[in-house]
Amino acid sequence: MSLPPGPRYLLQLAFPCLPPSIAVYVILNVFVTRGASIPCWFIALSALLSRPAFLLVCHFLSEMSNWVDARRKGALMVPRVYDRWPGGLSIVAAMVKNFKTGGPGDVFLQWREQYGNTYSLKIIGENRIFTFEPEHIKAILATQFDDFEKGPIFHSQFTTLLGTGVFNSDGDMWKFHRTITRPFFSKERISHFDVFDRHAEDALEQAHSRLTAGYPIDFQDLVSRFTLDSATEFLFGNDVRSLSAGLPYPPSPPSYPPSPASNDEHPSTRFVNAFIAGQTLSSLRSRYGPSWALVEFWYDRVRPHRAVVDEFTEPILEEALRNNHARRALGEQEKEDEEANSGTLLDHLVCQTQDRQVLKDELTNLLVAARDTTASLLTFAMYMLTQHPAIVTRLRAEILCTVGTARPTYEHIKEMKYMRAFINETLRLHPPVPFDSRTSNKATTWPVTRTNPGPSARPFYIPAHTKCTYGVFLMHRRTDLWGPDALTFDPDRFLDARVHTYLTPNPFIFLPFNAGPRICLGQQFAYNEASFLLTRLLQRFAHFSLAPPTSDDGVRPGVHLTMYVKGGLWVRMEPAPLEMDVNTEAEGLGVE
Ligand code: HEM
Ligand SMILES: *[C@@H]1O[C@H](CO)[C@@H](O)[C@H](O)[C@H]1NC(C)=O
Repeated sequence: MSLPPGPRYLLQLAFPCLPPSIAVYVILNVFVTRGASIPCWFIALSALLSRPAFLLVCHFLSEMSNWVDARRKGALMVPRVYDRWPGGLSIVAAMVKNFKTGGPGDVFLQWREQYGNTYSLKIIGENRIFTFEPEHIKAILATQFDDFEKGPIFHSQFTTLLGTGVFNSDGDMWKFHRTITRPFFSKERISHFDVFDRHAEDALEQAHSRLTAGYPIDFQDLVSRFTLDSATEFLFGNDVRSLSAGLPYPPSPPSYPPSPASNDEHPSTRFVNAFIAGQTLSSLRSRYGPSWALVEFWYDRVRPHRAVVDEFTEPILEEALRNNHARRALGEQEKEDEEANSGTLLDHLVCQTQDRQVLKDELTNLLVAARDTTASLLTFAMYMLTQHPAIVTRLRAEILCTVGTARPTYEHIKEMKYMRAFINETLRLHPPVPFDSRTSNKATTWPVTRTNPGPSARPFYIPAHTKCTYGVFLMHRRTDLWGPDALTFDPDRFLDARVHTYLTPNPFIFLPFNAGPRICLGQQFAYNEASFLLTRLLQRFAHFSLAPPTSDDGVRPGVHLTMYVKGGLWVRMEPAPLEMDVNTEAEGLGVE
């Protein structure tokens, strides 16, 4: 348990390595004792090479048995991308190049043209399947949920940061976490809006004064602070006050003031840096597959960052547990129930379990789930506002008509159909989680799709223990699923006849929040949070434009766990005309 990652990994590897080597060594020695003259170096070399040879044979046998099993099931092998070089090296090179310089998933697009929407890649001996096909993604997430899991490799990469929380567990452990967390989300919690209100005000006020001073703002940075402060307040009842660190200035020109946010003295900065570093380092591990442990041989790089996050959560957790015990001692069952319903998520969780590790893990998982995803949505929403002034006008008209200049309520937000369509359209073209994956835990098949029909159409064979990556980013952009204008940003497609032509009959073509038993728990929370901030934003500002260092062709999306804009999204925003401020128009319409 306390072994460093490297030695632990090597120990695990050594066990299957030893038997073939020992066997070869023993057999050759038997020959020698019977009088055969075999040189020592030959014995040593054979023992050493027996492991790779053994692996090759195993590999060959498993390919054979997959092939036989597929025939037995009446299934086809998933088409495999051709590789010029042995070992999948040209594929790895193409993926690395795409990661550095291309748009999200460009590299997959080129293979898709050649092989269809589901294909496999052999990467250094590992067979991986990629799919952009709604029917196949549906199989992974919903209809064949039990055949797929996050799996042991993902688990080993994320366990330092996430422990056994809801994001990082399978089977009964996952069910347990999901069960204790879900009740909190299913309630219509209008009081959440208190959580958003103060932080939205703070964020927009700071943006306003920085813009008035003549500088652009990094909207991505702003909403990341907003979602972090909102999420920590919602989860723990105490926020980390990352907004109070102040906003950064653009890195150039050098005449601009230095950024106050880079000031390490600020108490929130330590937490924010640890939280970001923990996530970045954990997702970096997935590039090395199971051998990430060799890169962090003696030292788990994520552990110190998780410790900083825990420093923040521990005192809050202790206080919640103390309060809970006090109420129990007084026998105030009613009050406890009330607390569970009206308090923070933490108040709710301590009524479900008192296990400190479980509680800390759960809080960290929810923080990861809640912060960057919603910040990503808001960042790309702003990008779209800068590109489509006519959409800004329509959104503002809807807000003026429904909410006026008041603080939006749950009912207002439910009523604003165009706002929701705008958010949906942003999630379609810029899904915060563009690629995700599961691993098959047994051999199975995926159904025949509309794209490979015909008399010989047969299901695809999915071998056991195969990593399956699915990309909603590319699926959301398919013209055969969304119509010829699939690449155009147009919220009306969620409101007019197109919704009946494409989405209603085929709901699995739109999956920003996943689907099936592991669908996002925070979906409604995220719609509310994003709608609240956008409403407040559009009440105050009416014109948005990109500003240096961001330029029109310089919005380059990047992906780690979530999608973001490389270098930040620098914008200028013009205040709304006065009619929004004085509320007369809205009052005239009889809207509060
Ligand atoms: C626009 C914002 C959001 C998007 C696009 C989003 C998307 C997703 C996706 C794709 C997953 C599935 C991940 C996987 O299983 O591989 C997920 C899971 C989850 N999300 Fe969200 N999410 C958002 C906001 C939130 C918020 C605000 C919260 C909580 C406050 C939240 C809580 C969760 C939880 C707890 C899970 C794990 C569910 C499980 O495994 O059973 N999400 N989300
Ligand atoms: C937005 O998408 C969700 C599915 O995630 C759907 O239930 C909802 O009806 C859509 N709303 C609008 C107005 O487009």
